[in-house]
Amino acid sequence: MAGSPLPGTHRDPMRAFNFSAGPAVLPEPVLRQAAAEMLDWHGSGMSVMEMSHRGKEFIAIHAKAEADLRALLAIPANHRVLFLQGGAIGENAIVPMNLLGTRQRIDVVNTGEWSKKTIKEARKYAAVSVAASSEDEGFTYVPPRDRWKLDPEAAYVHVCTNETIGGVEYQWTPDVGDVPLVADMSSHLLSRAVDVAKFGVIYGGAQKNIGPAGLTIVIVRDDLLDRALPICPSAFHWKEQAEADSMLNTPPTYAIYVAGLVFEWLLAQGGVPAIEKRNVAKAKLLYDALDASAFYVSPVRREDRSRMNVPFRLRDDRLDGAFLKGAEERGMVQLKGHRSVGGMRASIYNAMPVEGVQALVDYLRDFERRHG
Ligand SMILES: Cc1ncc(COP(=O)(O)O)c(C=O)c1O
Repeated sequence: MAGSPLPGTHRDPMRAFNFSAGPAVLPEPVLRQAAAEMLDWHGSGMSVMEMSHRGKEFIAIHAKAEADLRALLAIPANHRVLFLQGGAIGENAIVPMNLLGTRQRIDVVNTGEWSKKTIKEARKYAAVSVAASSEDEGFTYVPPRDRWKLDPEAAYVHVCTNETIGGVEYQWTPDVGDVPLVADMSSHLLSRAVDVAKFGVIYGGAQKNIGPAGLTIVIVRDDLLDRALPICPSAFHWKEQAEADSMLNTPPTYAIYVAGLVFEWLLAQGGVPAIEKRNVAKAKLLYDALDASAFYVSPVRREDRSRMNVPFRLRDDRLDGAFLKGAEERGMVQLKGHRSVGGMRASIYNAMPVEGVQALVDYLRDFERRHG
């Protein structure tokens, strides 16, 4: 893409600090560039939204997005990158349809709400065994590897490496031997280094760290492309999509374009190592503030805390409404916890500036002073 380098990080004072779990905050320079290119992309006379996905302009946008994603994650040559639709919930059916082959059983590690959805959906296609679970303690930790009961005949082992609702994140990569490891990385892909070679499949919806809703990223090792069930729909058939460069159906073109801008922004920030460093610092700032006070409760085991999604409660939940109202008055939005768990949740994805986290920390202290 011959576009100008993404401009600086000036923050528009009209914009809120948006702590939504997804769709979520995007880098402001990306939004500005998308706005500037809305009517005419690079002298083409067209918006990206109006382009044929088979035209040379969009093919170039698509190819650059894939190349930049490959560079950011150091994706090995034998892994294919697919830009599809269907979301991560779709993948809960699409994964078994693509990987079961002649096998009937799969293993899933249950770390919370998203794992539970994976189990429920996969049961329509396969015999699902829960290899390990942290339900005994309200999904507040990742079961250690030595507690997993794995079946060597399983078609694959599924993990959700960042539970967006519970705020539990793997800080390590599980070794599952020769059985392919499949990971739902929807809410932390590109937030930290990951050794892609250790995974058979990585997938995620884009609407957290990557771009607009509607795009699903699938990274699949090419020796796994021959295992699809005959019933697998073509639009979700990884091998057919890989052979068609993800263009067997019309891909989510505008979402791919914005994701491409996010990849360029990430590269300009110094890539994944630089953003990871920033994410570690942001998470520490927030968890330290929560831990320093008895007024707030942070339920997740320290070593398994998510850097991206930080659930917390006020010890007195009668103050929840006042807390959320005060936050909104200060321009901090979407802090309400997921309806299934209540309390609060601050999602602090790549595009959340440290100033946003600092503003939240200042507010936590101030609110406690007034209500504690
Ligand atoms: C970890 C995880 N998996 C799956 C999903 C579902 O994604 P979608 O709604 O795009 O299908 C989400 C979030 O929405 C998520 O955070």
